[in-house]
Amino acid sequence: MSTKQQYSISHWPDTEELQKRLYRLANELPIHQIKRSKMDEYLKHFDEKCARSKKITDRAKELIPGGVQHNLAFNYPFPLAITKADGAYLWDVDGNRYIDFLQAGGPTLLGSNYLPVQEKVIEVIRESGPVTGLFHEYELKLAEAIHEHMPSVEMFRMLMSGTEACMAAARAARCFNGKKYIIKIGGAYHGWSDQLVFGMRVPGVGPLDAHGIPAGCYQFTNEVFPNDIDALQKRLEENEKDGGTAAVFVEPLGPESGTRPVLRDFNRNLRDLCDRFETLLVFDEVVTGFRVGLGGAQGYFNVKPDLTVFGKCVAGGYPGAGGVGGRKDVMSGFAAGLAGGPGGKRAFVGGTLSANPLSCAAGYFAIKAIEETGAHLKAGAAGDRLTKGLVDIFERNRLPFVAFNHGSICHMETGAAMLMDIKNPNIFKEVGQRKKVMEEMGAALMAEGVITLAGSRLYCSMADTDDVIDDALDRLDRIFGHIEIKQG
Ligand SMILES: Cc1ncc(COP(=O)(O)O)c(C=O)c1O
Repeated sequence: MSTKQQYSISHWPDTEELQKRLYRLANELPIHQIKRSKMDEYLKHFDEKCARSKKITDRAKELIPGGVQHNLAFNYPFPLAITKADGAYLWDVDGNRYIDFLQAGGPTLLGSNYLPVQEKVIEVIRESGPVTGLFHEYELKLAEAIHEHMPSVEMFRMLMSGTEACMAAARAARCFNGKKYIIKIGGAYHGWSDQLVFGMRVPGVGPLDAHGIPAGCYQFTNEVFPNDIDALQKRLEENEKDGGTAAVFVEPLGPESGTRPVLRDFNRNLRDLCDRFETLLVFDEVVTGFRVGLGGAQGYFNVKPDLTVFGKCVAGGYPGAGGVGGRKDVMSGFAAGLAGGPGGKRAFVGGTLSANPLSCAAGYFAIKAIEETGAHLKAGAAGDRLTKGLVDIFERNRLPFVAFNHGSICHMETGAAMLMDIKNPNIFKEVGQRKKVMEEMGAALMAEGVITLAGSRLYCSMADTDDVIDDALDRLDRIFGHIEIKQG
């Protein structure tokens, strides 16, 4: 079998066992934190070694709300100003080098700033500039490459972000079947549009984060708990009495890139239910697309969604990255001009800079490079090695922390704030404390020269050789001998 048909997930974790351990960590055991004396050492490190970052980002606080523009860039005790990215490493303005397990939030499967793609992108910009407003052949080449690997994507519409792509998918679904509701799996992230800032992070919170959004905007958004097929069926039945469900949205590995992992057959069961209720199934492959394998999570699970949402993954880490693809009959609703979709209705989308030559060429050449190098498999092997090392470290130090991975997407749960149960009576008291513990973990990791997503998620790339992973594990090992139970 060619690497094109192989997937990065070497084994599917025992999800039921994992869920029990994650539940216990987040809801039953006392909070474990880094010892205060060790944490003080780490904080001192930032004052001494990251002074220029501090100066720049302090100044930024005066002009940029919160000082950083991106949720991923918010780091305790202060954000780092990064100047250089190459393969497995990042460098900050003070000249410190870090092993990069953020990988821009997932898209740089080839490693940061991968030269062969960068060179092609520069060629395209030299020739046509980043944008003309007119058609460029790379739009077609990208759509063909996606279709080749994900046959469910019969047609593809490029947009600028995953948020836009999710909005567009909801609109196309409603335009196609005329139904009213959309259902998401609680805890998942589908961007920040008015109707999807709902049920975020912890399943069951509904509109908790929907500040500045009128209730009418999420009036027709429902959430159901991950893995709860019965609840989904009930919700679909209820909605049938009131305009029906246009689409079910799912992150196929589980909410937040698998932070709450799904059972192996969950997606298949979703497909069956959606078929029964004539509801469209939307896979959000913003992170999993190409990373799980060139065929995406849909190829791995062998489940065909009606629509697939793409985001950062679709332009190989270059900006202007989003899109939606799927069934021709549904996608026809996006047709430009007056033609429109079924019944002449058009699911209006726009975006002056969408589908620009830069993003499309970057996406096309990144997919070609993944095909040629088998980057997804190399990154998956790195994820396995990293996770195994973490499990060993936790066992050796008798810690209740949980590490698991789906190929190159690794989870290291310590504070486990996102895994709290909405029914836990301590949730409002503890969630802030647990977030703080995670922030401190992120800071300790950075002081040891390792950058992660929020101190709990680690994306591997093709650049993570065994040496890089072993070096990272040595650095992580230095933290986990210094853990104590948090008092009070
Ligand atoms: C699964 C998922 N869907 C949607 C989005 C939103 O994408 P964007 O940040 O490009 O708007 C993200 C972003 O992290 C994501 O992880």
